[in-house]
Amino acid sequence: MSIPIGWVLQPDEAHLALTAPLLDRVDYLELAPETIWTVDRAGRLHPNGFFARFAAERTRGLPFVAHSTALSMCASPPGDEARREAWLERVARDHETFAFAWWTDHLGATMLPSQKGPRYVALPVPMGASARTRAALEATLDRMQGVVPDVGVENTAFHFAWDAPEHEPWMLRDALAGGARRHLLLDLHNLVLNAETLGYDARQWLATIDLSKVIEIHVAGGSWSDPRWLPSGRSMRLDGHDHDVPEAVWALLAEALPRCTSLRGVTLERMEGTVSTPEDVARLGGELDRLRALVSAPPSDAASRWPVPFARPVTTPAPFDDDGYLDELSHAERVHDDGRRLTALLVAKLRFERIQRGSDLAMRWFDADPEGFSAVFTRYHAGAPMREVFPAPEAEAFFAFCEGEGLLARR
Ligand SMILES: [Fe+2]
Repeated sequence: MSIPIGWVLQPDEAHLALTAPLLDRVDYLELAPETIWTVDRAGRLHPNGFFARFAAERTRGLPFVAHSTALSMCASPPGDEARREAWLERVARDHETFAFAWWTDHLGATMLPSQKGPRYVALPVPMGASARTRAALEATLDRMQGVVPDVGVENTAFHFAWDAPEHEPWMLRDALAGGARRHLLLDLHNLVLNAETLGYDARQWLATIDLSKVIEIHVAGGSWSDPRWLPSGRSMRLDGHDHDVPEAVWALLAEALPRCTSLRGVTLERMEGTVSTPEDVARLGGELDRLRALVSAPPSDAASRWPVPFARPVTTPAPFDDDGYLDELSHAERVHDDGRRLTALLVAKLRFERIQRGSDLAMRWFDADPEGFSAVFTRYHAGAPMREVFPAPEAEAFFAFCEGEGLLARR
């Protein structure tokens, strides 16, 4: 039987309505558990409106897979225990409804240790390939397997690395070697992005990992950062899921498919807010058709052209300084390296967007006075530690900061 193809359900009514016809063309559906939750003041998680919306799609009879973004696979800092337990428990409850075929999250960390408690950085950031990172990753996979038997880690899009390129695929290979039903989610757009950004050969990375561990492949497209964002004027590929799948990704998919001997699905990822017309939907339909054709008849002539794997590193990198890293992520203007600065800007952007999503008042304020709101946000981001995961508490923290600083009266 040919490999199933999948589509991601996004928490956005307009997007769901527009892309509904695509659901007839796929074999499974993916969802991010965090997008179907809301949080109360005690940190307890409850289903939000999209839980029922997505659960209604079960009548199609398609399997579901879970793909989280923020469990924080490679760092579990002191003080984060209750949050992590609540998330595991909530996924267990979701699993009762959706019967996830497998559950994956991302390489890297979204919760970082600090002297004042864990900090949430909104996107998975690189943690290097130290023994500490590997131990955290394996411990997280272990915990996830207590909820869903088949679990996995996705290679994440990073704009910088702590280590030389060979460390990541070898660390992944070693971390997944020991455990049964522990898999790799191979995101080919992330791989293309990383290879371009960090300057290595994506095919050599693929030749180094154990492709028999790949349970799922992600294909997506992205855009480029605005050259004005970085003092150097450099533009870097972004993991935006907002454009057509680039040819570089299709080419890698054709080569990887015959080698992914345990593959159970290939998913097309597309972000809400980036599909606005029936023509856009038709293009996505065309990508699903192309995906279907490729998985039905993967080319068999690629095997002889595979590069030599990266040499296994003789040393394991040392863990880096957590406080210095957090300082960089909180204060982009202090960072001179392009990749780290871009990462810090993306952290700030995601925080900004969470405030907007979490409060109508914040949205109205920004609409009425974008420059004023942005100036206040800049002060908030520099002065208030990142703690909140969900939009509403982040917006509350923002307004509490504004009140404390006397900023609300001036609007
Ligand atoms: Fe992905």
